[in-house]
Amino acid sequence: MKKKIIGILTSGGDAQGMNACIKTVVTTAERNGLEVVAFLGGFQGLLENKSKKLTSEDVDLCFNLGGSIIYAGRSKDFTDEQKRQKAKDVLRKNKVDALIVLGGDGSVRGSLDLKNLGIDVIAIPCTIDNDVPCSDRSIGFDTAANNAVDLIDNVQETMKTNRRILLVEVMGRYCGDIALYSGMCSESDIIVIPEKKQSAEKIIREIGKQLKAHNDSPTVVVAEHQFDINEIAKKVEATYKKECRAIIAGYYQRGGKPTMQDRLLAIRMGVSAVECVLSGAFGVVTALKDDNIKLIPLEKAVKAKRKFREDVWHTFIRLKKYETYN
Ligand code: F6P
Repeated sequence: MKKKIIGILTSGGDAQGMNACIKTVVTTAERNGLEVVAFLGGFQGLLENKSKKLTSEDVDLCFNLGGSIIYAGRSKDFTDEQKRQKAKDVLRKNKVDALIVLGGDGSVRGSLDLKNLGIDVIAIPCTIDNDVPCSDRSIGFDTAANNAVDLIDNVQETMKTNRRILLVEVMGRYCGDIALYSGMCSESDIIVIPEKKQSAEKIIREIGKQLKAHNDSPTVVVAEHQFDINEIAKKVEATYKKECRAIIAGYYQRGGKPTMQDRLLAIRMGVSAVECVLSGAFGVVTALKDDNIKLIPLEKAVKAKRKFREDVWHTFIRLKKYETYN
């Protein structure tokens, strides 16, 4: 009897825990008599038929590594309806019965596009941004936020010693979670996120309040795409006649070993995805809901609105007596 074949790809920006999830899928599949074929470099690799059989030997040493051993990436071609059709032929050529897609918000939408082509697909939320609305958390977020905390802690030591003001830009695309959580857990004083728009003037004013309250070296964490933090740093120096440094945390956040939380989530979602293949539950996202893995239909997943954690934000406001108006 022909063995069922699972296809797997990692899409978008890579995230820590992708490898843990790939290994989980491969080993769980093998134990259940299934085979796995990887498409290298995300949806683009699928369209170009860059494929490779994956065995438990191939994934033996990757569990605790950042990045993705099957490469990741974004694909312009995949957004083209005509070019996207090719995915079907490639999967047929490789005798793939079902495809598992690891990625963020855009990859979940891409998975629905594949489902609409008649492909049996399962999406796993896997992005440092934590921006998959149907899932309380995505694989990679915990590690990236911890990396941001580490970086801010380290830089704060030298900033405080030199009584300098610090501005740090963190990643997250259009989701403020990395900024909010890393800002709070690094005892930062001001947090700027897309969910709570603030003007540059307001940020500068808040820095002034910190200085007045005898905090010589306040830290401001700013989510990316909000401001040019180098420009703000110049304005801060001009306003308060005090040294201010701006740093961009950048890709440091996306590397390194996944945390225990991300490994656990990778295992739970990976096992669940293979079980979906075995039971024929296709067209779903393996979402985390109230600490349980729930299967959310792709159609529902793409319509879901992200629930910003107002309660966490308000804890920060209460902690810092921070003003929320512009
Ligand atoms: O989606 C993950 C992410 O790291 C975002 O936080 C960031 O905006 C983006 O990817 C950067 O993308 P790229 O690596 O393609 O420059």
